[in-house]
Amino acid sequence: MQGHAYIDGNFVALEDAKISIFDWGFLHSDATYDVAHVWRGRFFRLDDHLDRFEANLGALRLNPGLSRAQMREVMHECVRRAGLDDAYVEVLCTRGRPAPGSRDPRTCVNNFMAFAIPFVWIADPDKQRRGVDLVVGTPQRIPPASVDPRIKNYHWMDFVMGLFEAYDRGGETVVLTDGAGHITEGPGFNVFAVHAGRSPGAPARLVTPAAGVLEGISRRTLIELAQTAGLGVEQRLLPVDELRRADEIFVSSTGGGLIPIATLDGVAVGGRQAGDFGPVSALLQQRYWDLHDDPQYAQPVRG
Ligand SMILES: Cc1ncc(COP(=O)(O)O)c(C=O)c1O
Repeated sequence: MQGHAYIDGNFVALEDAKISIFDWGFLHSDATYDVAHVWRGRFFRLDDHLDRFEANLGALRLNPGLSRAQMREVMHECVRRAGLDDAYVEVLCTRGRPAPGSRDPRTCVNNFMAFAIPFVWIADPDKQRRGVDLVVGTPQRIPPASVDPRIKNYHWMDFVMGLFEAYDRGGETVVLTDGAGHITEGPGFNVFAVHAGRSPGAPARLVTPAAGVLEGISRRTLIELAQTAGLGVEQRLLPVDELRRADEIFVSSTGGGLIPIATLDGVAVGGRQAGDFGPVSALLQQRYWDLHDDPQYAQPVRG
């Protein structure tokens, strides 16, 4: 695969980016990460990704050993060396290894790494045109009181088992609940329900879970775009039954922006024909990609 990585203070080929099996990032999922993207040679909202990454490092008491400016430089350099126009750019920091014989996390030397690979789609443009088949999975999302989902993390066993269930049931991806009948999020994305205006001409309303989820950068982007377009946006509990009644459903991710959902548990969303996702999804998807040409949101990869 085309790409380039940074590990142990050096830029290396992807196949040389390896960590010790004794690193707690591997043994205990003790790590945080962030993923930004480059589209047509420009980073999208890189500062927002770095803000989130730095906040998460602080919350987990991880020290990457690099300043924000240095981390930014590493991300640019990975993309430049990879020679990619459209890229998936990940930064991560693992706990590292404790002192020999110790299980005290304070003795660990943390490891910062980064890599750039070709853009990764949760659903590629062709799939987006057809829409994704979503399943409400049985596993409960790990409770926020145990693992805070606002800190981007690798505690994905609930999602992975949910994905197996979704495939077994003929779906393509999964969304998990909080165990009390409310939607949380899926493997790599946030969820939105769209309700058409209550009377003719009234603006549509978007509902997205307020808590128990990662505060996605794409989620934020779509909320801002919806507000600018005069749509209502409600961040609150989203009951599964309400999602089933939505006129439109979409998910949001760095891996593809706004991704329309065609069916929920095998039922066509909003009773629509295949390939018709409704006006709100279409409008916001167009505006999301338009923002990639706006210098306020997108800055060129340094040559
Ligand atoms: C669990 C989870 N929720 C939501 C998202 C979406 O976040 P963003 O829009 O910042 O990519 C991700 C992204 O990978 C994720 O892993």
